[in-house]
Amino acid sequence: MRMALNAAEKFVGATAPNPPVGAIALDRKGNVVLGAAHQKAGGPHAEAKVLELAEKLGKLSAIETLVVTLEPCNHQGRTPACTEAILKHRHIRRVVIGTRDPNPRVAGGGVERLRKAGLEVIEGVLEAECRFLVRAFTKFSVDGHPYVTLKAALRKDGSMIPPAGQKTFTSKPSLIFAHELRKRADALWTGSGTVLADNPEFTVRWVPDHPGKERFLLLSDRRQRIPAEWIARAKANGFRPHFAPSFEEGLDFLAQNGVLEVLVEAGPTLRKAWLESGLWDESVVIMQGEKENEEDNVTITFRSDEEE
Ligand SMILES: NC(=O)c1ccc[n+]([C@@H]2O[C@H](COP(=O)([O-])OP(=O)(O)OC[C@H]3O[C@@H](n4cnc5c(N)ncnc54)[C@H](OP(=O)(O)O)[C@@H]3O)[C@@H](O)[C@H]2O)c1
Repeated sequence: MRMALNAAEKFVGATAPNPPVGAIALDRKGNVVLGAAHQKAGGPHAEAKVLELAEKLGKLSAIETLVVTLEPCNHQGRTPACTEAILKHRHIRRVVIGTRDPNPRVAGGGVERLRKAGLEVIEGVLEAECRFLVRAFTKFSVDGHPYVTLKAALRKDGSMIPPAGQKTFTSKPSLIFAHELRKRADALWTGSGTVLADNPEFTVRWVPDHPGKERFLLLSDRRQRIPAEWIARAKANGFRPHFAPSFEEGLDFLAQNGVLEVLVEAGPTLRKAWLESGLWDESVVIMQGEKENEEDNVTITFRSDEEE
């Protein structure tokens, strides 16, 4: 399951509106035959991909067990149901599942179908990790809205404003981390204050991006101060800009466009409004190290934990 999770994690941010999923095939002795992940909506699901690859490599008949991070789907979507793809191969006797489908309408359907067909189904292996992997998909399928992550970098004195003449003040590892946050998001959200002060690009540069990935760029700018040239450059960089008159309108727009996660990268004004709105899910704060050469501190807070 750890291997299946690793396979899936590489494609977090590439699969919307589908969840990231990883699958590993084992032979009769429990040895790993091969693994795969769901890479893109419309492409094969992880289970189907493993079986497809195994067939190509002539290893299909060796598979006895499939280990999957998420319950196999039991419905025909853009691709055929994974339960049926598994059941076609009588030598597959066991399916190990990390977590059930978070969508309450389909949860358990895949497990039930496989059990009824006589397969052994083992559930809940590394369940917490597997649920965490699909937290944005869970938000999307349960609440019908994207998962909102707020990111902020704070200076030693708690200010978010960079020193004069600078756009950033965090360490190189923090910049890499910040670009990993962008990479996993399907949309970014900023405010006019940040655009006017920083002329930011918002592209993923410090880590390799998912090939061909295009992101929505939501803009809070009721006074329409953002220059048209900046919008044109954002479009040229592959963004799809959208002016959001309110958080609710913007979230509805993103949901309609199949966005699983939006990353808010705004200044103190918009960040405060997001925090007060209660519409966020995860807050990532990068705190500059106290002393010179001291590492930055990252704190991640989940709103669901705060509510408990
Ligand atoms: N350290 C960091 O992590 C970080 C990240 C980004 C930016 N920054 C810094 O932050 C500074 C800019 O901060 P800022 O606070 O001026 O800009 P901001 O928070 O990015 O944008 C603020 C603007 O958003 C608009 N807005 C729309 N809806 C809003 C709502 N519901 N609530 C509040 N605002 C809303 C407002 O303009 P309208 O009234 O026209 O709608 C407001 O002036 C820059 O110096 C930048 O370098 C730091």
